[in-house]
Amino acid sequence: MIYTLTLNPAVDLELQIDQFQFNSVARAKNSRMDCGGKGFNVSRMLRNVNIESTAMGFIGGYNGQRLQTELTSLGIKTNFTEISGETRTNVSIVAHGEQRHIKVNETGPEISSVELANLITAIKQNLKAGDWWVLGGSLPSGVDSTIYAELITLIENAGAFAVLDSSGEALRLGCLAKPTLAKPNLDEAKELLGLSDEGLDDADLWCKALAKQGPKNLVVSLGEEGALYVSGQAFKKISSPEIIEANPIGAGDSMVAGIVWRLSLGETLQKALPYGLACGAATASRPGTELGSLEQVTELVHSIKI
Ligand SMILES: Nc1ncnc2c1ncn2[C@@H]1O[C@H](COP(=O)(O)OP(=O)(O)OP(=O)(O)O)[C@@H](O)[C@H]1O
Ligand SMILES: [Mg+2]
Repeated sequence: MIYTLTLNPAVDLELQIDQFQFNSVARAKNSRMDCGGKGFNVSRMLRNVNIESTAMGFIGGYNGQRLQTELTSLGIKTNFTEISGETRTNVSIVAHGEQRHIKVNETGPEISSVELANLITAIKQNLKAGDWWVLGGSLPSGVDSTIYAELITLIENAGAFAVLDSSGEALRLGCLAKPTLAKPNLDEAKELLGLSDEGLDDADLWCKALAKQGPKNLVVSLGEEGALYVSGQAFKKISSPEIIEANPIGAGDSMVAGIVWRLSLGETLQKALPYGLACGAATASRPGTELGSLEQVTELVHSIKI
C-alpha cells in the first residue's frame, strides 16, 4: 500500500472572472473546487495510473467533509484524523482576460497535542514493512518542524519506506532522519544548502553534498530541464520530455507519484525515474489543476533516456 500524508490540507476554490475591478461586485463565470495538498495530488496522480493509495492527515468541519467526499468520489481511500478546527480554504481569483490572478491562503486551524497524538497513533496502526509513505507539504500551526523527522524514523524502523517532499526547516530536519527518498525542487535544494545561483555550476558536487545531509536517495527536480539524482556514488542528469506547458503547478507532486508507483512495484530508482519525469511532464501539459493521464505517461516515458 502507498500512504500519502497531508498535514495542512485545504479546500482550493478558484473563481474565474473577466477582469479585476476593485470596489465593485464581480460575477464569477466559472468556479471549481479542488482538494488542496501535496499528498492529495500524489494520491490523485496515482489514481490516474490505476494505483491504489490511502490519503491520511488532518481534516475538520464542513470543509474537511468536502475533502473526504471528493477524494472518495475519485476512488481514493482515506483514513483521516478529525480535528476540532475547520479545514482551511484557499481562494484564487483568476482574470483570464488579463492573465492575472490573486491567491489568498487561510492560515488554517491550530492542531492540539491530543490531535497530533491521534494522528501518530493512526499512522502506527497502519505501519507495515514494505509499504510506501509519502510525506509532503507545509505544516499546520501547533505541529513542530521535527514532525517529518519523527515520522520518517517510525516508518523506516518498521521496514517501510518514507519519501519526503517538503521545504525549509521541515525538509532539513526530515532529511537528517534518512528517508528512502527526498525530492526537493531546485529552490528547495538551494535553500537547504545555502547556495546562490553562482554555486550551482558543479551539480555533481552540490547534489552529493545534499545527499550527505541524510536522504538515502535524492532527486532534485528542475522543471522543464528535467532532474538530477544521486544514489550512493551515482550521479545522473535526466532530461524531461518536451511538452507544451499549460500549468506546471503540481508537476513535482506528480513526479513523486510516478517514482513511488514504480518503486512500489519493486523497480530500482533508475528504472522508476523516467516514470517520475513522464508523470511530471504530463501534468505540466494539462491546464489548471488537472493531472496527467496514464495514456500520456505511457507515451512520454519512452522518450526519456538516462
Ligand atoms: N515545462 C515542463 N516540461 C517538461 N517537463 C516538466 C515541465 N515542468 C515540469 N516538468 C517535469 O515535472 C518535474 C517536476 O517539476 P518541478 O521541478 O517544477 O516540480 P516542483 O517545483 O516540485 O512542483 P510542485 O511543487 O508545484 O508540484 C520535472 O522534473 C520535470 O520532469
Ligand atoms: Mg514541489
